[in-house]
Amino acid sequence: MKTVKVGICGLGTVGGGTLNVLQRNATEIARRIGTRIEVVHVAARSVNPQCDTTGITVTDNALEVVANPEVEVVVELIGGDSVAREVVMAAIDQGKHVVTANKALLAVHGNEIFARARDKGVMVGYEAAVAGGIPVIKAIREGLAGNRINWLAGIINGTGNFILTEMREHGRAFTDVLKEAQTLGYAEADPTFDVEGIDAAHKLTILASIAFGIPLQFDKAYTEGITGLTADDVQYAEVLGYRIKHLGVARRTAEGIELRVHPTLIPAERLIANVNGVMNAVMVNGDAVGSTLYYGAGAGMEPTASAVVADLVDIVRTMDCEPAERVAALAFQADALSDEPV
Ligand code: HSE
Repeated sequence: MKTVKVGICGLGTVGGGTLNVLQRNATEIARRIGTRIEVVHVAARSVNPQCDTTGITVTDNALEVVANPEVEVVVELIGGDSVAREVVMAAIDQGKHVVTANKALLAVHGNEIFARARDKGVMVGYEAAVAGGIPVIKAIREGLAGNRINWLAGIINGTGNFILTEMREHGRAFTDVLKEAQTLGYAEADPTFDVEGIDAAHKLTILASIAFGIPLQFDKAYTEGITGLTADDVQYAEVLGYRIKHLGVARRTAEGIELRVHPTLIPAERLIANVNGVMNAVMVNGDAVGSTLYYGAGAGMEPTASAVVADLVDIVRTMDCEPAERVAALAFQADALSDEPV
């Protein structure tokens, strides 16, 4: 059986989860796609104690992983947008396919990254960048490809939803729940991104770009977090028959595409009002299909790894196809963008 060799840059929560899932389900995955996926090189500041790196070369320099001639696919799980950008661009320039969970990187530098990937005929997988383990990118890009999308709306930050749920159900203090979210590996390295709505705006930017065929325009999103909410707000909403949910919304208007992230009062009986804890849910409305709903864990080690591994599987399945077919399978079509205003 053929083997594709992979390098992972970053062995934190998601990187560690990815290595573990690839090792644990190696036989299952190989049977499914007829190819073995083997991690041969890892870049990590320190070895994750939850991982077994026996037989894997470990370095603290991610560019060494990219430069390893054996490595055909680079998995970027470093986070942030400086070293990560360098690693992703270097991998693309060397003709290597890339998988990333890095929404901040894509929301801000995605137009450049996807254009370069297209020039080089390599694939960039980013399912794990939005809504953790929910295959919502695939659903919009492939499952709903025949629709004109009217709007999408969802809970797309697990940390924020965990905080609001714990405040409502158990009367816990905001800062106390945020600390727990950090311990559980849900929160960003800088949790301000979670609680100020920046992470949700990154994800909304990516979803809107696929749904409406527009360039990534993070700076156009209205962004409001949950830090202004008090325990009283959460309890009064409950008394009035509502729940406060932090939503990302993208919709067509007469003036163009509207992007907004903010807390929203939702009637308690609605499905989305009952998405609790770290769970995410995204509703997408298309002209042919009507409304659809995607639900699952929005953060965490293995749910996010599930999406990273799915991208790896897609890449390995199609990497022997003609470049045009490969890119169509995964990457953002930078030459086919709508100029609809945002
Ligand atoms: N910090 C993010 C969240 C991680 O809580 O949703 C998953 O993208």
